[in-house]
Amino acid sequence: MGIFEITMLLSEKAVANGGKSFMPPAATEVAGQVDNLYAFLLWTSFIGCAILLGGMIFFVLKYKRRTNNDKTPYISHNTFLEFLWSFIPLVLFLAVFGWGWHIYHQMRQMPENALEVHVFGRQWSWEFVYKSGKSAGNEFFVPVNTPVKLLMTSKDVLHSFYVPSMRIKQDVVPGRYTALTFTADKLGDFHVFCTEYCGTSHSGMLATMKVVTQADYDKWIQENEEGMTLAERGQKYYSDKGCVACHSVDGSPKVGPSWKGIFGKEHEMDDGSKVKVDENYLRESILYSNAKTVKGFGKGVMPSYQGQLSEDQVNAMIEFIKSLK
Ligand code: CUA
Repeated sequence: MGIFEITMLLSEKAVANGGKSFMPPAATEVAGQVDNLYAFLLWTSFIGCAILLGGMIFFVLKYKRRTNNDKTPYISHNTFLEFLWSFIPLVLFLAVFGWGWHIYHQMRQMPENALEVHVFGRQWSWEFVYKSGKSAGNEFFVPVNTPVKLLMTSKDVLHSFYVPSMRIKQDVVPGRYTALTFTADKLGDFHVFCTEYCGTSHSGMLATMKVVTQADYDKWIQENEEGMTLAERGQKYYSDKGCVACHSVDGSPKVGPSWKGIFGKEHEMDDGSKVKVDENYLRESILYSNAKTVKGFGKGVMPSYQGQLSEDQVNAMIEFIKSLK
C-alpha cells in the first residue's frame, strides 16, 4: 500500500468518526477544540513531511548523476525560496501558538460558581470529597452541563490527574493545591488515570468519573454516611485545635485576623504587599503561620501547625473559612 492509499484510508476513517478517529470520545466542548488543534497539527506535520520527503526523492531521481562527466552546477542560494521556507513555517508555528494559547486560556479560566470537588491522590488510589462531607473512592459523580472545579492535593508523592475524555490533566502535588475545571456535556462513565509514575501500583491508580443528570447526582450526594459537611468538620477542628482562641468568625479582631468573609478578598501584609486569600494562601497560613503576616498583627504570634494537621483537616478548615461569607 502506498502513502496515497494510506492517506485516503486515514482520512475516510477520520471523516466517518467526525474527524476524531485517533481520540477517546470527547465529553466537553473544549475537548472538541483540542481535537481540532491536534488534527491540524497532525495534518500539517503529515503534509510537511510528505513535501519534504517527496521533494527529496524527486530531486534524487531527477538530478541523479548519470555519467562521470556530469558537472554539478554552482548554486549558492535563492533568496525567494529561503524566505518561503522560513516564513511559511513561522506563520504556521505562530498560528498553532495562538490557537493553543486560546484553548489553554479557556481551560484555565476557573468558573466562579463551579461545583467544587476535593481530590486527594495517594499511593495508589484517588479520593474525592464533596462539600457535603461525602467522600468517594473508585467512582465519583458529577452532574452533566455543570462547571466542575477540582481542588487537588497529594497525601504522599507526586501524582497527576488525567481524564482523557475531558482532555484535562494536572499534576497533583504534595504540599499545595492545584486545580482543574471542566464542564461535561455527555452522560456516561469516563476513565481517570494517574499519569505521573508514583511507585509500584501506579498503573492501578484508576477511578471512574460518572457524568449523570442533576437529579441522579442529587440523589447520590445525599447518601452521606459521614453525617457532617466538610465545613462542619472544619468548624469542629476550629474549636478542637484551638484556632477559636485567636480568630473570630464574626468579623471582630482578636489576636489574629477574623475569618469572616476573608475568602477571595485581598489581604495587605506587614511588608505592604497584597495577597489574594485563596486555598493555597490559607493552607500556607495554617501550616506555616509565619510565612506571611497580615498588616497590623504581630509576627511570630501564631504557632506553626506543620505536621499537626492532616490533609483532610486542613482541607475541612479551609472549607469552613470559605463558608463564612
Ligand atoms: Cu499516582 Cu501514578
